Amino acid sequence: MKFSAFFRLALFGIKTVLFRKKDPILGTVILTDKCNLSCKHCSVNNITSVIHPYTQVLGEMERLYEMGVRILFFCGGETFLWRDGEKTLRDLVIEAKKMGFLIVNTVTNGTMPIDLPEADLILLSLDGDRAAHNAIRGDTYDTIMENVRNASADNICFYMAINQINKGAIQSVCAAARNSKNVRAVSFNFHTPYPDTRELALSREEKTECCRVIGRMIGEGYPVLNLPAAFPYLINNTFPTPCFQCVVIENGRLSTCGRCIDVPGLCAECGYFFVAEYTLLFRGNFRIVFEALTTYLKYV
Ligand SMILES: C[S@@+](CC[C@H](N)C(=O)[O-])C[C@H]1O[C@@H](n2cnc3c(N)ncnc32)[C@H](O)[C@@H]1O
Ligand code: SF4
Ligand code: SF4
Repeated sequence: MKFSAFFRLALFGIKTVLFRKKDPILGTVILTDKCNLSCKHCSVNNITSVIHPYTQVLGEMERLYEMGVRILFFCGGETFLWRDGEKTLRDLVIEAKKMGFLIVNTVTNGTMPIDLPEADLILLSLDGDRAAHNAIRGDTYDTIMENVRNASADNICFYMAINQINKGAIQSVCAAARNSKNVRAVSFNFHTPYPDTRELALSREEKTECCRVIGRMIGEGYPVLNLPAAFPYLINNTFPTPCFQCVVIENGRLSTCGRCIDVPGLCAECGYFFVAEYTLLFRGNFRIVFEALTTYLKYV
């Protein structure tokens, strides 16, 4: 991260903590819900299968920028399926940088060739070793790892959603992150139990064990882009929700925190690490602030 970007984000954080502000800083544009996979744990793919047009996406990016958002994520569906005529995801990332966003990231399933050197981070979903990942995401592991090896930049961060199928494969993803030259780190989430995937949720005891393993991996020097000080809050679901500093826009509709805010009762069972980490950070939790500074500066 450039020093100027760090300075501006730090200033935002200080103002938010001191004046208990609720202004957003992180925004996500959903480019499409169309997807080439239908993963077992996912409830948001291929509901409309519409790919939103370039002018609409550009308008949504401008709207987020005017609201004060400076960290932009593209998400889906599958983001690498997005195109409009000659325009591709890469054009959107370049446009976002020109607009003034300080950090521009995308989330992908990694099944298509990865040529996005302008992105700050590519969060690439890897849900375990070959067996666990393929059990969740179909037979895609080998293709993804080949795409990671051939990527045009080293801006990839693995993204693992831990659930009943892959809870034993945390070490494997940490090792894959350490051993892949284009991968900087791995970031974890717990399964968030939408009504149609409740059976994949982890118990409190299982989350405790997962956090113990992640903590051990961090201790052994594996590259993990999460904050251990948030683990107790994630295990017990005692972090504040929703995250007011995060917004999502999909087809012109703006939501605070996530699209999932409309699912009754889901926030009380939220498994997204970023929600715990950001809400605690912006409340000025001292350990979280310290870990955020050391961890984010290392990997972003
Ligand atoms: C919805 S996908 C969209 C981007 C891309 N298709 C992908 O798979 O990375 C974004 C991320 O959400 C995760 N995810 C989907 N459903 C989830 C759930 N119920 N709980 C936690 N993470 C979930 C996926 O594993 C993926 O890492
Ligand atoms: S690849 Fe992403 S959007 Fe597609 S089904 Fe899997 S998690 Fe959902
Ligand atoms: S806190 Fe609620 S809205 Fe935010 S990500 Fe979690 S479930 Fe979704």
